[in-house]
Amino acid sequence: MRKFGFGTTAIHTADEHNETHAHVLPIYQSSTYVFDDVDYGQSLWRGEQPGHIYGRLGNPNTEATASAIAALEGLNLAEPTYGLMAGSGMAAVSTVGLALLQAGDTVITQRALYGASYTLFKKFFTRHQVHHADFAGDDLADLDRTLAENPHPKMIYIETPANPTLRITDIRGVVERAQSVGALVVIDNTFATPYLQRPLEMGVDVVLHSTTKYLTGHGNVVGGAIVTANEEMYRTQLLPTLRTYGAIAGPMDAWLTGLGLKTLQLRMEQHCENGMAVAQFLEAHPAIERVYYPGLESFEQYELAAQQMDAFGGMISFELKGGYEAGVTLMNNVNLLALAVSLGAVDSLIQHPASMTHFNNSPEDRAKMGITEGLVRVSVGVEDTDDIIFDLEQALEAVMVATHTA
Ligand SMILES: Cc1ncc(COP(=O)(O)O)c(C=O)c1O
Repeated sequence: MRKFGFGTTAIHTADEHNETHAHVLPIYQSSTYVFDDVDYGQSLWRGEQPGHIYGRLGNPNTEATASAIAALEGLNLAEPTYGLMAGSGMAAVSTVGLALLQAGDTVITQRALYGASYTLFKKFFTRHQVHHADFAGDDLADLDRTLAENPHPKMIYIETPANPTLRITDIRGVVERAQSVGALVVIDNTFATPYLQRPLEMGVDVVLHSTTKYLTGHGNVVGGAIVTANEEMYRTQLLPTLRTYGAIAGPMDAWLTGLGLKTLQLRMEQHCENGMAVAQFLEAHPAIERVYYPGLESFEQYELAAQQMDAFGGMISFELKGGYEAGVTLMNNVNLLALAVSLGAVDSLIQHPASMTHFNNSPEDRAKMGITEGLVRVSVGVEDTDDIIFDLEQALEAVMVATHTA
């Protein structure tokens, strides 16, 4: 059967769940569902027919949006894909860990992960006797060393591009090694989105997202998603875990994410265009030491990024020559760009890890994480390109004055 393209899939999939004649899928803001009679209720409990029982187990909005995200992640796969919506990105990561890991298992993660994901595996799952080992995500030789010490991992967990350094993990290289030792590969695809990178097509077992970011796209939802092409894993492990631990997203949030998805292709095109223009501007600026953007040819892992991504998105990190003071000055002088954590919204956001997200870590610990004192991260939005660059330019001017580099 002919498959639709990315944009059509994003716009139409959720509406297949619309049983009313409303043009747009309504919000089913209901915590429970009424049975016609006992036989009907029992047939639902037995899973003999589709329908809804209770909001923690499933609702039309989470199912519609999950099916759209699953369709996008599986765009070029022959087999069907299965999706779930969780109440946050971390609820998605937790659900995957709880579903697939048990006491005695080993999970290997890359070190440069979203902080809470790393903490979850390093500090929380280890409480339940799940052993944790890590490797430098941008170095397959380091994964080989970690595998030599931990030869039977249950899962290898990666995130690429990584937050906030934009380092790239070789997805196919990790999958090859995981398959040779019988381990599952789970990936956090939040930064790339399925528009730029579809890991299931590269042999990854489970893809997850913080839908708080690009998939919703408007900064108005905290949510998560999980997708797999493994029907058995979905039915017997992921779905029961999400339901029993109670991690499902609410109908309103799922609906907003579904609405955001419809413009994902358009937004990502503009994020990519603006991302490249801003990266090139920053690279040429005298206040800046180095720019990390996978789409720049000067980016160390440009070729690997180009092999596994269709384009390079809107996330950029850069190092200011003036260190910590320059970072604080830049933050205090932007006008259009919002000083905020999070990413992937239509508006541009900027943050300085040393004075914001990582200010509680010592400079030494920050250095171990690859976070220098002058590192800045920008989530480039979809505003007019010139306006974003103008704002950065005038704020960098203030940096040059303050740090006497003018
Ligand atoms: C790459 C990545 N994964 C996971 C998360 C966690 O998502 P949430 O905040 O929706 O729980 C984040 C949040 O910033 C993230 O950037």
